[in-house]
Amino acid sequence: MKQIGHLKAPGNWMNDPNGFIYYKGKYHLFYQYFPYGTVWGTMHWGHAISDDLVNWEHQGIALFPTKYGDQNGCFSGSAVEHEGKMILFYTGVHYYEADPENIHVCLHDQFDSCQMRMVSEDGVHFDNWKDKQVVILPMEDNGHGHRTDTRDPKVWKGKNGWIMVLGSRGENRKGKLLFYQSTDLKNWSYINEVSKGDGWGWMWECPDYFETEGGQVVVFSPMGFLKDGKGEENQAICMVVDFQEDGCKMNMPDQYQYLDYGFDLYAPQSTVDEAGRRVLVAWLRMPKAVKEEGQVPWRGMFSLPRVVEVKDGHVYFRVHPNVKKLYSRPVRDVKDTGQKGYHLSLQLEDGGCVNVGGYRIFRRGSRIGTDRTDVFCKGEDYRTVFETPKIKEGFQLDIYVEEHMVEVYINDGEYVVSNGVYGLKKELFISGGSMVKLFGATDLSALL
Ligand code: FRU
Repeated sequence: MKQIGHLKAPGNWMNDPNGFIYYKGKYHLFYQYFPYGTVWGTMHWGHAISDDLVNWEHQGIALFPTKYGDQNGCFSGSAVEHEGKMILFYTGVHYYEADPENIHVCLHDQFDSCQMRMVSEDGVHFDNWKDKQVVILPMEDNGHGHRTDTRDPKVWKGKNGWIMVLGSRGENRKGKLLFYQSTDLKNWSYINEVSKGDGWGWMWECPDYFETEGGQVVVFSPMGFLKDGKGEENQAICMVVDFQEDGCKMNMPDQYQYLDYGFDLYAPQSTVDEAGRRVLVAWLRMPKAVKEEGQVPWRGMFSLPRVVEVKDGHVYFRVHPNVKKLYSRPVRDVKDTGQKGYHLSLQLEDGGCVNVGGYRIFRRGSRIGTDRTDVFCKGEDYRTVFETPKIKEGFQLDIYVEEHMVEVYINDGEYVVSNGVYGLKKELFISGGSMVKLFGATDLSALL
């Protein structure tokens, strides 16, 4: 099965991106996958491959439960290349008690989490019976829940060996990061932990760390972070940090940015692309499944790939150049843009508004807002109106639209607002816009 643009669940359920890597000339992107319905359940890793980050080919299931450690799921993790092999790290979970009426659900949220690895010789074959190993046992029970809530290994090559960061929780319901080091990718030693004060969430999921030319960045997804009573509480944040590999000391400032100001994206993961750019994708949480004629219902998709850069202490998320190439066919009318979505570029003046098929993007002074009230599920539990912080660099908007997601890049990624949508119309009304350009999808293979 092929997909162009965003990667979507090939039927059923997907959540976090996993094992994102450029390996032997191809991009591999795995994802948390439940193959038996459009709800979260026993986690497998689905797998997709791409030459260019926009033309994706689904490969089916790579990882599935076979061992005591991962009996109830292969949770999130990452991939590295070593001696030509693809090495995957993930969290295996084992429930204390499964719901007898639905074995895909854990009773009382109590389970053991261990960190596991799986080796694939070629990134294509995955022997779930032979090639898995536990590398970090479940934590000793300390009465604070970290035996259950320690997960999502992200591994990278440091200057003096391999480093792993895990998301976890500590005393007083505070999230934290745990750092480990290894010289052989098999034996891991605990080095350090890092946390913040109150108000930073009770568990930090899916950490990622990387260096850019402009600074070192940490990204993670604290649970219980946005407390306005609406979904979702768990939000991905990022910040520029000071990280010393020796002793894995991380100095985290008090200021943070949201990954995305639409608050729908979660659990991002990054890798380095072919040209050495830091590229990241995130999961779009979708409150209901999409059911289309002749298709298996599906729920969950990924953002477009974004290049992460740091300038003057600010983290930018710029749309990947291959996405721009994909949407490079000038069109006059939105009705001529076809099935694969489109890119609308414009400058927005104060008081201006773009209505993208029922999804409104507007400018109020130095902020950009969005409103999806007319193209989303109804109900008080859902956030429908969004706003960026004050913008500094102008009001250039690059809006990428597809059937179930709108991504608004402001000033080439100074801020991004992305939202899931349902029932978007193929219409476009603009007031207060200038330099308007519209692009449909092109056949990218012809350009590469
Ligand atoms: C984040 C997360 C991870 C976990 C995975 C399970 O969305 O909860 O922490 O590994 O999803 O599917």
